[in-house]
Amino acid sequence: MEAGMKEEVLGAVARRNVFLSPDALEMVMSNSDPLSFVNTVLSALSKSAMFVSKKDIMDCIAGDKVLFESANERVRKNKLVSDLAVASGTDVTGCSTCEGKINDFVVYFKNRFSMLSKILRENRDFMKSEPAGDVCSIKRAFDRGGRDAKIIGMVYERSETRNGHKRIVVEDEEGKCTVLITKDSPMASETFTDDEVIGVCGKPSTKGDLFIANKIFRPDVPSGRRWVPSDSSASVAILSDAHVGSHTFLKSQWNAMISWLKANAYESEIDYLILPGDVVDGIGIYPGHDKDLDVKDIYRQYEMLSEYLKEIPDHMKIVVQPGNHDAVRPAEPQPALGGDFAKCFDSEVILTSNPVSLKIEGRNILTYHGKSIDDWVAKVSGMSYDDPARAMKEMLVRRHLSPIYGAKNPLAPEKKDYLVIETAPDVFISGHVHGAAHLDYRGVKVINASAWQGQTEYQRSHNFSPEPAVMPVVNLGSGRVDMKRFD
Ligand SMILES: [Fe+2]
Ligand SMILES: [Fe+2]
Repeated sequence: MEAGMKEEVLGAVARRNVFLSPDALEMVMSNSDPLSFVNTVLSALSKSAMFVSKKDIMDCIAGDKVLFESANERVRKNKLVSDLAVASGTDVTGCSTCEGKINDFVVYFKNRFSMLSKILRENRDFMKSEPAGDVCSIKRAFDRGGRDAKIIGMVYERSETRNGHKRIVVEDEEGKCTVLITKDSPMASETFTDDEVIGVCGKPSTKGDLFIANKIFRPDVPSGRRWVPSDSSASVAILSDAHVGSHTFLKSQWNAMISWLKANAYESEIDYLILPGDVVDGIGIYPGHDKDLDVKDIYRQYEMLSEYLKEIPDHMKIVVQPGNHDAVRPAEPQPALGGDFAKCFDSEVILTSNPVSLKIEGRNILTYHGKSIDDWVAKVSGMSYDDPARAMKEMLVRRHLSPIYGAKNPLAPEKKDYLVIETAPDVFISGHVHGAAHLDYRGVKVINASAWQGQTEYQRSHNFSPEPAVMPVVNLGSGRVDMKRFD
């Protein structure tokens, strides 16, 4: 038993490229939870540290030595008053109107088109592009007799001609046309998805419905946008896909993360914690799911999560959002956990919809579980589960979290399309694919936030390898993203 634990400890140390002296190793092994202890030490270790002795650890515990990055560098600047609110109009909870009637879909797509058209009209690159002047409807563009025009349309159909040119049928509220992209055009290598909304500058044919594209624009995040530092010194930690109740829930790594937060969150001003969905493993989510469950009672799963969250330091404000494993409707936007599930949590825990936008200390945080990544990977060439941040970037480009309708990710036809990214966020969080990645796209900190579940039999049979036990922490002032590893 001890030999196995020693191996796990040595494995964790080797992955971090740090050496423990024999006496340091002995000290770690004498702890009641050696893996948690060593992970806590490793997570907080100064980046330059390579060799750690017992004396180093003891000096650090006594407060005499800067072994941990946070020891003497950080002094809390902020008072402990949290500044977090759900952005108005972004939470569907209690506002759902759809009944699934055909007319609901008509209203839904009209709203999507109108919201994305508005964003495209705010895209300065599109509006400045030739021909000068405003956007016109597809019908009017063709009525004007072959003059260059600027149109906005929703992608209805895509195909390729025998000669290798791209044909994209787009429609607006009045008409439809076929946008032609010649195979020699730089636009020919661009990726288009069904149901996305694009702006096209080009020339309509005098006969037929062809619109020869000169330039194509996406709603996108404004070009040239950058992260502007603020004086906030607070940080947000993200724990996605906890999957409490799963047979492969990573309890030891979770405990190490909790220990680390207890030791560091206050001094490091990690004042907010977001759980972007799949907070429990749920029941009956995929064929044979019950074989992967330790806890088959879903109420018990939420009670257990609530118990775990009580361990989070009191000063941290917690937000819980559902995902496709949670006990709400599967169609997005998903409302917040309600009823008896909501009662499991302390009143301090904020339960929101999926997706939702949060305002935290002046920053706009968009948090979305990320189920649509399944469709991006299945339907869009070049996308893969190994690179979830790329799919998230493409969502920002299209200013839509799940543009493709009718694939794996179910969408509820609400009167308002809650999946449109109305405001370009400062931080964009997703999970779902159990990967750990981040990038900066035009000043947006794009973060895919790992998982706390090891590989399940189901994932193994689908050749899927997760990257669990990583807690991203984003600083709201500097925008710096740290991926804290507890593996
Ligand atoms: Fe998940
Ligand atoms: Fe998920």
